[in-house]
Amino acid sequence: MTYFPYEDGVLHVEEAALPALAAAVGTPFFCYSSGALESAYRNFAGALEGLDAIVCYALKANSNLAVVRTLARLGAGADVVSEGELRQALAAGVIPERIVFAGVGKTPGEMAVALDAGILQFNVESLPELEALNRIALDRSLQAPVALRVNPDVDALTHEKIATGKAENKFGIDMAQAGALFARAAELPGICFEGLAVHIGSQLTELPPFRAAFRRVAGLFGELRAAGHGLCRLDLGGGLGISYRTRTPPDLQGYAAVVREATAGLDTRLVFEPGRVLVGDAGLLVTRVLYVKDGTDRRFVIVDAAMNDLIRPTLYDAWHDIIPVAEPSADAETRPVDLVGPICETSDTFARGRPLPPVAAGDLLAICSTGAYGAVMSSAYNARPPAPEVLVRGARHAVVRPRLDYAALLGRDRLPDWLEAPTADASRGAA
Ligand code: LLP
Repeated sequence: MTYFPYEDGVLHVEEAALPALAAAVGTPFFCYSSGALESAYRNFAGALEGLDAIVCYALKANSNLAVVRTLARLGAGADVVSEGELRQALAAGVIPERIVFAGVGKTPGEMAVALDAGILQFNVESLPELEALNRIALDRSLQAPVALRVNPDVDALTHEKIATGKAENKFGIDMAQAGALFARAAELPGICFEGLAVHIGSQLTELPPFRAAFRRVAGLFGELRAAGHGLCRLDLGGGLGISYRTRTPPDLQGYAAVVREATAGLDTRLVFEPGRVLVGDAGLLVTRVLYVKDGTDRRFVIVDAAMNDLIRPTLYDAWHDIIPVAEPSADAETRPVDLVGPICETSDTFARGRPLPPVAAGDLLAICSTGAYGAVMSSAYNARPPAPEVLVRGARHAVVRPRLDYAALLGRDRLPDWLEAPTADASRGAA
């Protein structure tokens, strides 16, 4: 079933008509479907049924408190990578025993806050990080639960900017060094090694890289156990992709089968850190056409959303389907257009040469599959307040992050005392 149907000729999010939401909230705005979030979570968790598994939603994909709480209410834990995300997870109601803290550069302050919160595990990626965590845990008379993130040197077959599992990437520890690190950890009383972790990249659309990585890390897990290390958790990361063009669902059963096969006989608890697959297809970015401009050989459709709202096309040349909110007739002719935002850079382009049915100034368009890595990566570049976020449940909607008003935007900056007067003359006059 779709959570984004055309009804009465207009696109809806569940039972909420987008033109009405646009009138109420203003454009551009992100709009999420509660039903789509819940069904993505249930499908993912359901595919793992029978395994001893915890699903720790990767907040980096979308950390709006309402989104996180929607998932937490279904039992999701959290994968966090900063103190900010840790606070968001806790504020959304995720219990600390279901929170993993990942990332190559945790600060001492972040480690202290997470230790005090009593999280499930730190995914540690280097010896210096392990030693820092040991010191901070000992200062607080605590022991830090740790999973060692290993780098299996597997090509994830994804965009190079989001691949993390090759030896040349900054992530994880070389598998060959893991044994030495475990030996060192035995001398660190503030550390309790409880598991291994792996994550080879994001937006993976093929299973063989997962299979290769999971097999390698499961093999190491078995070896470490045989060497006497009492490991009790294997964290298989996130990374399962979505289908940005066709929006066919990801192959959850295939993914789960790879997990089952690779971990068979290990008899351990598994942790997963999915982000995109839970939220990506649950959101749209709704934007209004400002102008249609015919260049010498191209038509530009200039919309009121920009790269500050959605950076994925700029950063990764990512494709997002773009559909009109007013349902086009079945025989509507399409013509290729460049869909661009108002920002003063050529890179502020959502799509090039994209076939679209006729659009005119004032029309609404929906940029699809923007629930993941959309709002969270937005900025106020060009002093544009980032797009607000709306959550729909049935016919109800709520603005779950309002648009920053201009007072708040300007209020982020402070003038030093020597610049308090607006002009040099005025300051001399005051002296
Ligand atoms: N676990 C770790 C350790 C990660 O680094 C990531 C993503 C995840 C889990 C969640 O991965 P997911 O299931 O969402 O693929 N901004 C990029 C994606 C960056 C992903 C970074 N790490 C994009 O827009 O495609």
